[in-house]
Amino acid sequence: MIYAGNFKTNHTRFSTREYINKLNLKLKDKNPEDKIYIFPPLTAIDNYSGNFTIGVQNAYPIQNGAFTGEVGIEQLDEFNIKTILIGHSERREILGESQEFVAKKFAFFQKMGFEIIYCIGESLEIREQGEDAVIEYLLAQFEGIDTDYNNFVVAYEPIWAIGTGRSATTKEIEQTHNALKKRVNRPILYGGSVKGENIAEIASIDSVDGVLVGGASLKVDSFLELVFHQK
Ligand code: PGA
Repeated sequence: MIYAGNFKTNHTRFSTREYINKLNLKLKDKNPEDKIYIFPPLTAIDNYSGNFTIGVQNAYPIQNGAFTGEVGIEQLDEFNIKTILIGHSERREILGESQEFVAKKFAFFQKMGFEIIYCIGESLEIREQGEDAVIEYLLAQFEGIDTDYNNFVVAYEPIWAIGTGRSATTKEIEQTHNALKKRVNRPILYGGSVKGENIAEIASIDSVDGVLVGGASLKVDSFLELVFHQK
């Protein structure tokens, strides 16, 4: 299983360091097959070492240049960052990233050899139209994406389940992941209100290869509860 924690706009450099020190101690006992990713805010990126991978939540598809407020490869290289989230619904919806721009980013970071966690997800309005509408919507989020790239994973995150406490049902996750697996031959993570109470059930679904976690990753103990749940 893959366990990825997305801090979003939470934690400081100081608290991230504390978190990672604690995480490091416990990850010694993790299942060697499990992979752990942490996506801290950009100001907390540093040369951490341990049994996990640090990635960035966002970057601009450029080496360097005049892109006020953004970071490019030059800044990421300083910390050996080779992992990035692309297409998160908060960037699509709040920051206005179009499918075209998301695909441009994907192509750039693919060319740079990054490991990409590529996020897709539907709104509640689409979900209420039924499974076929959901799949059609999600497949459109692969437009312009080279799904043959061998260093990316998909994160399916229904927007209505993100940060709401309401995760998708086992049946919804299973149906959607199975349909996505017909289109992309890559690991698929589920995200959206994953927490201690539902991790065992979600992880038991065959087509779930891991989880992308926001809220429940913010405290190291609750993130560790996910990593060490009994499957
Ligand atoms: P959540 O966020 O776990 O707080 O629902 C998930 C995500 O946005 O990656």
